[in-house]
Amino acid sequence: MKIIRQIDPLRDALKELRQQKSSLGLVPTMGALHAGHMRLVETARAQCDAVIVSIFVNPTQFGEGEDLDSYPRQEAADAALLEAAGVDLIWAPTVDQVYPHGFATNISVSGVSTGLCGGSRPGHFDGVATVVAKLFNQVRPDAAFFGEKDYQQLAVIRRMARDLDFTHDIIGVPTVRDADGVALSSRNAYLTPEQRGQAVALPNTMRDAADAIVKGDDIAAILAEAEGKLLASGFHKVDYFELRNAETLENMTVFEKPARLLAAAHIGSTRLIDNIAVA
Ligand code: PAF
Repeated sequence: MKIIRQIDPLRDALKELRQQKSSLGLVPTMGALHAGHMRLVETARAQCDAVIVSIFVNPTQFGEGEDLDSYPRQEAADAALLEAAGVDLIWAPTVDQVYPHGFATNISVSGVSTGLCGGSRPGHFDGVATVVAKLFNQVRPDAAFFGEKDYQQLAVIRRMARDLDFTHDIIGVPTVRDADGVALSSRNAYLTPEQRGQAVALPNTMRDAADAIVKGDDIAAILAEAEGKLLASGFHKVDYFELRNAETLENMTVFEKPARLLAAAHIGSTRLIDNIAVA
């Protein structure tokens, strides 16, 4: 398995791979891989003949005061996992290979990027859309795989791909959870054991809220009560706890399918996000 950091060798390696394999799957990541990422890799392996994983901690999707500098970086451990999983190539570009001197382009997707994480992390989805468009152009995969854990990100990428005429498939892969229901995330590594115990309130509260919504209880009251429960369980700030249309991400005040509950809340210095279908 090759680890490539410069665009010219990447093009050579991709040319060679395309001669041997009929379909290429891309799994974009920022490294610090966990079982959720490995599920993306497994799904890509099941659907494509060759799998390329990108590892790039993208500076433009981190806001001021966010965790760019402290974001976990563990390339050797990531590479060992990917090699064992049968990945063909790691694309781990240096920052200048993605953002060359004078870089002046920004991709901004309106609509689906409004509110939720787009509200609490201004500019975040511009950074995501721009880097993902670049990765798509650099690798030109037949399919790209993203976790539903970052549900709004997936919606932004789908919209961007449709709007910019990327023709490959965008595959959303269900969230992988620990046994207690907490969604896997590279940021879970920041949690103290006590905070990790408290974090279970997020999926539990979401499940209770989803059940109450399906039963027909008042949506505004359910959402307000859910925020209160999180604040009483160790979270100190709730960025949002909202019910949205699962496809358009428009706000929903009267329950109808397809619906999705999405939440982001802070515990200690860690911001956790999660989402579930309401059905
Ligand atoms: O989900 C992530 O890890 C990142 O946002 C992505 C899609 C790799 C873009 O940097």
